[in-house]
This record gives sequence, structure tokens and C-alpha cells, in this order.
Amino acid sequence: MVEELRTTVGIVGAGPAGLMLAHLLHTAGIDSVVVDNRDRDTIAHTHRAGILEQGSVELLTRTGAVSRAHTEGHQHEGTVFRVDGVDHRIDFQGLVGASVWLYPQNEVFVDLAKTRDADGGAVFYGVSDTQPGGFDTDRPTIDFTDADGTARRIICDWIVGADGSRSVCRTTVPETTRQRYAHQYPFAWFGILCEAPPSAPELIYARSERGFALVSQRSDTVQRMYFQCSPDEDPDDWSEDRIWSELQARVDGPDGYRLTTGTIFDKTVLPFRSYVTEPMRHGRLLLAGDAAHTVPPTGAKGLNLALQDVRVLFEALRDAVTRGDESGIDGYSDRALARVWKAQNFSSWMTSLLHLDPQASDFEFRRRQGELRGLLESAHGRAYLAEAYTGWPGESTLTI
Ligand code: DHB
Repeated sequence: MVEELRTTVGIVGAGPAGLMLAHLLHTAGIDSVVVDNRDRDTIAHTHRAGILEQGSVELLTRTGAVSRAHTEGHQHEGTVFRVDGVDHRIDFQGLVGASVWLYPQNEVFVDLAKTRDADGGAVFYGVSDTQPGGFDTDRPTIDFTDADGTARRIICDWIVGADGSRSVCRTTVPETTRQRYAHQYPFAWFGILCEAPPSAPELIYARSERGFALVSQRSDTVQRMYFQCSPDEDPDDWSEDRIWSELQARVDGPDGYRLTTGTIFDKTVLPFRSYVTEPMRHGRLLLAGDAAHTVPPTGAKGLNLALQDVRVLFEALRDAVTRGDESGIDGYSDRALARVWKAQNFSSWMTSLLHLDPQASDFEFRRRQGELRGLLESAHGRAYLAEAYTGWPGESTLTI
């Protein structure tokens, strides 16, 4: 026996993108059902990036969702580029009148999951055998087995694939009807979480002869830091002492700056990849976030891009469902991809600017130093950086 559920929008993926979309649809009186193969606790404890653009914070705080971004997050009005031990501050507020917020992705999830609870939203966590289908019909379906072992089928008008970089929804679309664009990088990030007070009031993106490092924060007592490593690095080869001396070496400089060290309780190697699949719509299937595109982590664009997809997609679905106007759905892929490629460029450019490419020639190494100097010495260069980092602030006006 298959239990059938009828809804307007079936959403695969209960990460921030899927739940934000479900919430926005709810505000417009449109019902949805969300499924995810991960259990709620796993999503709440999966560490991802921690920076929200101004437009993302607006989306999270102005739409009636539970959000602790303003109360527990930290507004950052600038960031520091540390090149060979010398600080260059990018003053976001002074340059483009915008800020970013340090508020980790897993906390965004916790807030949105509570929002769905409060609104009585249907979210199935811990499902298995998820199988979307029928995109080419006007009654697409999502088959799955819920956490209790009951076989279920969602019958809906639209399916949204917000199911991350290993998307089942994307892989259900025949390869012949989509284009893939991908780029590999010859390095990865070694990420740590540690118990220590913050080492700096703002983020430090450091470039040194030993490679890239990023000093980020989580709270008054927990910090997040990363350093460039080889993709096949094994975290077990890295003792606490070895990690701290490598991080310190990458931020050393004439100012004598020292990181505040503490017990490291999480070590992970994060792979780097750029990926885009086009188009982001296949009949009644719409892809959003990492299901359609992945950026390298430098600049923390991943979640922000996903939320931006969701904003555009929400407007398109609302117009289609409430007014029968499908022009927004028809334009969704092009609208979303315009921003996706801007962010792809920014993430990949910021990566190459700050990382050491083990295969690069001496010429390339020195050219990059020239590029960085040209950028950081120019008010226009810093403004370009500030504008892209904060999410092209003039552009992200909410129309809800
Ligand atoms: C964080 C991650 C990023 O990729 C970045 O660019 C900035 C901050 C973080 O996890 O805090």
C-alpha cells in the first residue's frame, strides 16, 4: 500500500533552501511537502559556511521566519585581506554601504525547521528511496519511504530539487537534455572548529608563501579556521600542534599578530569544485541551490546563491499557482543563472587570487601578487570586492 499525499509543490531537500522555499510559499497560502534523506539532527550538525549576505539576512528576517541572525549572528562591516603578513581592510560599509552577517548555515537550518514546525508544515526527515518522476506530465510525483518504513507518493503540480550537490532530482533528468560545466582545483581546505576566544573581530583572508588561510569565527567560545591543503590530505595526519603552527605560519607578519589557540574538536578536508548545470528547469522540475550549482568555498557564496534562487523561484511559483501566470517559471532558469555565473566568477577569482597553485609558474605567482596589489591599492578595486562579497547589494530587493 502506498500512502498518497496531494500538495501543490513537492520539495526534495530540507536544507535552508528547501525549507525557506516552503516557508515563503506558506506566506502566500501555497502548500508544500518537503522530504530529505538526512535526519533532522544530522542537518542541524553539519558544518558549512558562516557568512550571510545582506540580501540573505533580509530574506531570513523580513518574511516572518524564526531567525536569530540579528540576535546571535554578528554583523561584519568589513573584512581583512592579509597579504604576506600585512593587513588590508575592505570597508564594506564605507565602500558600498552594506554588511554581511556571520551566522552559520546549520543555525539557519535550525531556525527554518522551527518555522516549519510552528506553521504546521509537512517535512519528512530521514526518508529513503526518494524517486522523483513525471516532470513532463502535469502531475509529477515523488516516491519515497518515510522514516517509519511507510511507502509514500507525493502527487504535486511542481517539483523543486533543492537536494544539494548529489541531487537525485538532477540525476533523474536525462544527460542529453542538460549541459554541465565544471572546473576542478588542485587544492582543498582543511577546516577546523576549536574552543577558543575569537582571534580577530572580522574575518581574515590570508595569502602567504605557504598558501591560503582563513580566520573565521562562530561565537565567543568557538572559532572556525581553514587553510589550503592538498585534496588528498588525511586529517588524521594533523596533530593539534601541527595545525596551529601551520595556521600561525600563514598569518605571521611584521606586526607580530598571533592566533588565539585552543582545543580543536573538528577537522575536515573540504574539496573544491565549480559546477553548473543548465537549464535549471525541466518541465515541472525546478532545480535550486547546490542541486544546480556548486562554487568553491572562498567568499561563502553557496548558501547565499541558494537563497537567491529560492527568492526568484518563489515569485515564479506564486505567480503560476495564484494567477496562472507561468512567465516567471519560463524565465526562472535564465534569471537564476545570471547571478549564478556572477558568483561562479567571483568565487573562482577570489580563490585564484588568494591560493597558491602548486602548478603555477613563477611568472604566474608574481602576476598574482601584482593583481592583488593593484586591487587593494585601488578604492575602485576594493569597492568591486566589497560589492561582490556583500552580494551586489543594489540588486537584491525583496518584492514580497
Ligand atoms: C566561512 C567560510 C567561507 O567559505 C568563507 O569565505 C568565509 C567564512 C566560515 O565558515 O565561517
